[in-house]
Amino acid sequence: MSSSAGTKRSLYMEWAKTCSHAKYSLATSGLTGVPGDEFPINLDELEITAPGAYGYGPLQQRLAQHTGVPQECIVAAAGTSMANHLAMAAVLDPGDEVLLEQPAYGPLLDVANYLGARVKRLPRRFESRFVVNLDELQRAITTSTRLVVLTNLHNPSGALLSAEMVGAIGKLALRAGVRVLMDEVYLEMLFGKPAPFCFPIGNGIASAKENPFIVTSSLTKVYGLSGLRCGWILAAPELARRMWLLNDLFSATAAHPAERLSVMALDHLEQFRERSRALLAANRALLDSFLDSRCDLECFRPPAGTVVFPRLPHGRDPEAFFKLLREKYETTVVPGSFFEMPRHFRIGIGGDTGTLRAGLERLSAALDAFAKQ
Ligand SMILES: Cc1ncc(COP(=O)(O)O)c(C=O)c1O
Repeated sequence: MSSSAGTKRSLYMEWAKTCSHAKYSLATSGLTGVPGDEFPINLDELEITAPGAYGYGPLQQRLAQHTGVPQECIVAAAGTSMANHLAMAAVLDPGDEVLLEQPAYGPLLDVANYLGARVKRLPRRFESRFVVNLDELQRAITTSTRLVVLTNLHNPSGALLSAEMVGAIGKLALRAGVRVLMDEVYLEMLFGKPAPFCFPIGNGIASAKENPFIVTSSLTKVYGLSGLRCGWILAAPELARRMWLLNDLFSATAAHPAERLSVMALDHLEQFRERSRALLAANRALLDSFLDSRCDLECFRPPAGTVVFPRLPHGRDPEAFFKLLREKYETTVVPGSFFEMPRHFRIGIGGDTGTLRAGLERLSAALDAFAKQ
């Protein structure tokens, strides 16, 4: 394969679509999907096509309400995936330097490479609970750096960047004249606890026009509404406008029925939030007792979210373990190699509670069997 073809794909997405499925899948990071019969559909409000425009007014209005950000700063996008792509493509030219966290969600890295950026890495270390080290960030930013890319909550570890840390990153970015893309697709999993949403923090330290943060998110992960592809970008108004214009090259107009359904979802978000909160409370208790029972796994435990990223014992072949887990125990997790940390693996706890319980039992059995091999 030529190197250019090699950058026009995401190995992680390919794996997720073709290999992650199993009877007991602990490989997904989102909430199990809301079934059709639980969706508050109003057929009278459904329409197939709308006049083309930069955003569907009622959806823009709901997103403004949801995020607390003016509509001129909001760009609707097909999921956080397209939001991340648009955000990076609007800011980066080939050869521009990007500072991207490591470990990272694969497609973030793939998009940066696809756009021809020069990717430098910012370590978030297991030994330091996956924090961002501000001194290290400051030293890593050079005059060529155009963009810093982070996730909050962090995928794969679930680590939370505090409001103080986000503020400090924003000030540093402002001084250095770089932008920060913050993917917040998991952040609403704090469920009502004060969450460090970075766009308002950015507005607090700069004029709205100079907000150093670009935020991406969607209804996918927290609310189990992936199929709607209801994503958004928050950015300073001039940059937001640039993204709308750029989007004309990618998808021109959105699928209008999905826009209509997204409005219905946002009007009933409390119902979905409660479903997620209750499911994750039950599932986290299962995860905690699993981790308590495994002294062979080292694991940072994040304060919230759907993922943890434990480390397997030294000196064993992780790939052999994942094979055993899949083939004999019908269970999948995400191999750490997709996050450039092959001794780790990611467990997702957003599935239904029965499947999670059985999956964790099987994971335990597989770890026991593997230790004896
Ligand atoms: C950090 C991060 N960003 C974006 C996405 C994709 O989100 P969406 O389904 O909204 O496109 C994922 C999915 O796993 C993710 O982990």
